[in-house]
Amino acid sequence: MNPQPSIDSVRRVLVVGSGTMGTQIAAVFALAGYDTTTSDLDPAALERSREEARRRLGRLAEKGRRTREEVEQTLARMAWTTDTSAAARTADFVLEAAVERLDVKRRLFAELDEAAPAHAILATNSSTIPSSLLVDATDRPDRVCNMHFFNPALVMACVEVVRGPQTSDATVETTLELARRIGKQPVRLNREVPGFVANRLLGALRDEALRLEEAGVASFEDIDVAARTALGHPMGPFELMDLVGIDVAYLIRMAAHEQTGDPDDLPHPSVTRLYEQGHHGRKSGRGWYEYAAG
Ligand SMILES: NC(=O)c1ccc[n+]([C@@H]2O[C@H](COP(=O)([O-])OP(=O)(O)OC[C@H]3O[C@@H](n4cnc5c(N)ncnc54)[C@H](O)[C@@H]3O)[C@@H](O)[C@H]2O)c1
Repeated sequence: MNPQPSIDSVRRVLVVGSGTMGTQIAAVFALAGYDTTTSDLDPAALERSREEARRRLGRLAEKGRRTREEVEQTLARMAWTTDTSAAARTADFVLEAAVERLDVKRRLFAELDEAAPAHAILATNSSTIPSSLLVDATDRPDRVCNMHFFNPALVMACVEVVRGPQTSDATVETTLELARRIGKQPVRLNREVPGFVANRLLGALRDEALRLEEAGVASFEDIDVAARTALGHPMGPFELMDLVGIDVAYLIRMAAHEQTGDPDDLPHPSVTRLYEQGHHGRKSGRGWYEYAAG
């Protein structure tokens, strides 16, 4: 018998992975009143995560968005551990936000399935690995899905909930409702598609920008000006590529191409060129633009 999840049974949440995403996602759940444990195999990452959560939640109080008391209560609901299995045993909902590697996630899902109560949903925050590549590592394929947050998770309202071929209605509805209860605006995807919705929209804009630049229609600087001043985007597609990382843009397209085999999914030649030259954007001091050191 497969006990189906329901929103009323969700009290304790486990977030696996205490990096950029896991840290803020855990804070989002705790702010909404959920007892939240964050696990990571790296104790130093956990320590950084605890400090970061403290700092970010403290800033909410400083800015008057939450009272000091609310922040203290939120922190009291948060725990950090290196023992993922032990934390999974009492979790009603698991959000995996560990490193973006299929082998790591498959091992984690097998471990989580073994330890978590039967009613618990196992969701992945992965941007590129659909849950259908993880389900067969578990004995609960109907209770597995993608729940995709955006960076910075404390700020961005969108959460994409992606149904895999075996995901049950109860899993989809519970995850959508959970997203609402933590103050997010869920977007329901009825099936898996590489990049999901938001990143596909962004990708379409970026592809067109790259085509226009390559064809010599306008400089990349002017294309960024058009995106900012005509479309109201906070930054242009080339500025955004530099911020996120040329390497990230390159690797995401390589992963998409691996899944689809479609040559159209390969990175754009100018992105490949920058990637191979080591011009990875802001973090390396140069991408499309040059950045002053420090
Ligand atoms: N960074 C983003 O902008 C972004 C946005 C949306 C979704 N995502 C997705 O979120 C996930 C995490 O990304 P991130 O940027 O936070 O990564 P990150 O590198 O900042 O953090 C990953 C953490 O996972 C930990 N980890 C690795 N193996 C583990 C294991 N077996 N058990 C427990 N912890 C383990 C690492 O020690 C590290 O602390 C990825 O799946 C990524 O696709 C990232």
